[in-house]
Amino acid sequence: MIPYRQGKPAAADAFKLSSNENPFEPLAAVRDAIADSSINRYPDGAATALRELLAARYEVTPDEVQVGAGSVAILAQLITAAATVGDEVIYAWRSFEAYPSLVMVAGATSVQVPNTPDHRHDLSAMAAAVTDRTRVIIVCTPNNPTGAIVTADEFETFMASVPENVLVVLDEAYAEFVFDESAVVGPPLLKKYANLVVLRTFSKAYGLAGLRVGYALGAEYIMDAARSAAIPLSVIEPAQRAAIVSLEHETELLERVKRIAVLRDQVWQALIDQGWDVPRPHGNFLWLPTGDETAWAASVFADFGIVARALPPEGLRVSVGEAGSVDKLLKASAEVVRKLRTAAAQPALD
Ligand SMILES: Cc1ncc(COP(=O)(O)O)c(C=O)c1O
Repeated sequence: MIPYRQGKPAAADAFKLSSNENPFEPLAAVRDAIADSSINRYPDGAATALRELLAARYEVTPDEVQVGAGSVAILAQLITAAATVGDEVIYAWRSFEAYPSLVMVAGATSVQVPNTPDHRHDLSAMAAAVTDRTRVIIVCTPNNPTGAIVTADEFETFMASVPENVLVVLDEAYAEFVFDESAVVGPPLLKKYANLVVLRTFSKAYGLAGLRVGYALGAEYIMDAARSAAIPLSVIEPAQRAAIVSLEHETELLERVKRIAVLRDQVWQALIDQGWDVPRPHGNFLWLPTGDETAWAASVFADFGIVARALPPEGLRVSVGEAGSVDKLLKASAEVVRKLRTAAAQPALD
């Protein structure tokens, strides 16, 4: 079993663009909320206030909300609750690196459905992969690491062909960065599909990755199953408070998200101009399909002070970080192109 590998730490003068983090400092109100936490006490294990706030916002009941120490914790709960030895969990590949080990730890079997050549989920192949052993299907939109979205139309066609007793988890960790109107939006579909769960997080758009807090929306009995599989008291009070304050200051945070998205689109255009075949990004990261040259390309990026995530043999994922990182990033990507072009122009040696 391959352990989950975190994005590498960056040297003092380098930019860490390997974990899709939010480059902005926490809001003062968030810092205050954390400072006010009574950390000699256990937290409210049910995260009552946060669940009530989320329930009101999504027009569901608090019992239809689960809060976890990161959305990945809730995904682990759902997979553990729904699948065991002999069961199958379907997801696209490449997708989020955590999926294979969560499935393996549950004792279940991963069924990885390759992305289309344009780096999108192949939803019809995913639906066709369903067997009587399938318990869960994970749909990731925007997909980490390729950045591609699933459209609303595609998703509805997909849901129509998935049996109602298969749990579909729509992982929307990067939803707030999506500005394409054709994209699927999970929460409004919950009333239509009883087997749908939507995962969201405070780690990305809200900049709370270090506090570990995410949530799921879905039918009460499914959320109860997740709660049964959870490690008690793992969402700490500072995280709950910070999440509540972040929702209260959402306008300011979503303004930052917009700035990240603008920068993302500028970097994407600059990469296209350099000759890269980069799929249109919809999260806070870009996907460079460097194939067999991935490890080498990552080392070139490192030489330029950019720590990217190498996912060989497919590609390199680079987060959209501080505005000051862009110049280094584009110099590194230009250097990769230059070296590859030079190598291609060399006559082959015997
Ligand atoms: C697609 C996807 N889902 C879930 C997560 C986990 O986020 P969290 O910090 O909420 O556990 C990530 C984090 O990178 C992600 O990329």
